[in-house]
Amino acid sequence: MDIEYIKSQLTSHPDFPKKGIVFLDIFPLLRNPITFETLITHFVHHLTSHTIPGSPSKKIDAVVGLDARGFLLGPIIALRLGAAFVPVRKPGKLPGKCVSASYEKEYGTDSFEMQADAIQPGQSVIVVDDLIATGGSAKAAGELIAKQGGKTLEYLFVVELLFLKGADKLDAPIYSIVKSE
Ligand code: ADE
Repeated sequence: MDIEYIKSQLTSHPDFPKKGIVFLDIFPLLRNPITFETLITHFVHHLTSHTIPGSPSKKIDAVVGLDARGFLLGPIIALRLGAAFVPVRKPGKLPGKCVSASYEKEYGTDSFEMQADAIQPGQSVIVVDDLIATGGSAKAAGELIAKQGGKTLEYLFVVELLFLKGADKLDAPIYSIVKSE
């Protein structure tokens, strides 16, 4: 029910940001507060309802959101769970001591940073972003969490581009609401 509704509100943009890419835009979901609420509640229900096969049964200490659209979803999910929110950002944006991890993009490499004191050893963590494509950025986030001694329980996405097999790169299960072929 929720899933069909959420899927119906996504828009696709052929040849954006460049030719050959069909860009799936989650912003229309955020324009309507009822749709946004449905999306957040769907994720929180998945994370807290142990009747859902595969949903994490451990207490979640921190929600890590990826730059930039993970910042729109992660803090709300973290608040609902009573967990910390931790941003993972492009290099040079975060003050203080940071850890970094690089990842492959379509052309060349990029890197992500996390504040070194943001995750404590032994903490259970969830990673959130709008979409998983090749999985490079999510993998880098997982490496940052592992470097700090955290354990990633699950990766959450609104959309999964199945044909790019990003899930195969990750060290924990993924949960996606809309699966795109
Ligand atoms: N990031 C990588 N590929 C994407 C796509 N097709 N739509 C939206 N965001 C993306």
